[in-house]
Amino acid sequence: MIRPTPHVAAMSPYALAELNAPAGKRVISLSQNESLRRPSPQVSDVLVSAMTNAHLYPDPEWTELRNALAALHGIPASGILCGNGSMELIACLTLTYCDEKSAVLAPAHAYPFFRTAAGLARARYDTAPEVGVTASVDTLLAAVQPDTRIVFVANPGNPTGTRIPRAELDRLRKGLRGDILLVIDEAYGEFADHLGEPLFDLVSRGDTVILRTFSKAYGLAGIRVGWGLFPENIASEVRKVMNPNNVSVAGQTAAATALSDQAYMRETCAITAGLRDGFSNRLRKVGFYIAESFTNFALIRFYDAQAAQQADAILRAEGVVARAQSVAGLPDCLRVTVGTAEDLDLAASLLEHRAKGGKA
Ligand SMILES: Cc1ncc(COP(=O)(O)O)c(C=O)c1O
Repeated sequence: MIRPTPHVAAMSPYALAELNAPAGKRVISLSQNESLRRPSPQVSDVLVSAMTNAHLYPDPEWTELRNALAALHGIPASGILCGNGSMELIACLTLTYCDEKSAVLAPAHAYPFFRTAAGLARARYDTAPEVGVTASVDTLLAAVQPDTRIVFVANPGNPTGTRIPRAELDRLRKGLRGDILLVIDEAYGEFADHLGEPLFDLVSRGDTVILRTFSKAYGLAGIRVGWGLFPENIASEVRKVMNPNNVSVAGQTAAATALSDQAYMRETCAITAGLRDGFSNRLRKVGFYIAESFTNFALIRFYDAQAAQQADAILRAEGVVARAQSVAGLPDCLRVTVGTAEDLDLAASLLEHRAKGGKA
């Protein structure tokens, strides 16, 4: 019998949303924090011609994309690594810096893939309580152990949607030992860029990594491109565990082209924020608790886990797939991705009906 290693056998598969609808209903996925808009039309225009080079391996240095990211953000191209989604970078960071003698620390309601990545490296996964659904620097610092090697903070967070200000991240970094890597995952960073708190300068300290992705505001979830700014000595170690040809020809071309159309991306963020706030305010009016979100989704808190499950079932009966959050320690919550105005209106009216005591 061919057996996996015991730690892989003990792992659960990473849970993705089940995208199905009752017979005769269309699946309305509001479950994966994908963009409500297609990518910039410029992306499809260049992809066909980029494919004439598909017989060649992609550029292992991501040269065009790296240079474009460096120019846009005013950061050194040499510190940028691109990944097959930022998930690849998260996994490679834990594989590089953690093993069975170490621990990863994250806020209690953090992005669940941080736990998976710790598991891949056989590291223990520790969590620190949040204040409501917002990460807390005090509890994170209090939860640090002698064997903590990486602290992950998604800012804004998923599934919470909340964020902590730059000054709090500075306080976190200053309070962590110098042998602990701080990874700030800004997958939703573009939705909060208007707040004017860029973090990239933290990387020059040598102990902090900033991650971003093309999957959210740039609308390229299906093409799998993430990136990060790394201290150079960390980048060179992480590269050893990465697939050397990780971002396809299509991915590099699509990401560089999407990056060049900043106006389109900014418009996506503005449309998303408007629909998110309209949806959230509508439900707050009928008594739902929804924390302020700085992302492309809203986290709805119900009276209890049973109420959340009932609401999930009511939405699913009409084909609307939201995302239950037990895996992130929030069984009384559902996360709803900002979709089209029409799809959000359907979700909001089903939930309003429920709040007003209506039956499914
Ligand atoms: C906080 C956070 N980090 C990373 C990712 C993964 O992004 P990518 O598509 O770049 O792998 C997600 C996706 O939902 C996310 O929410």
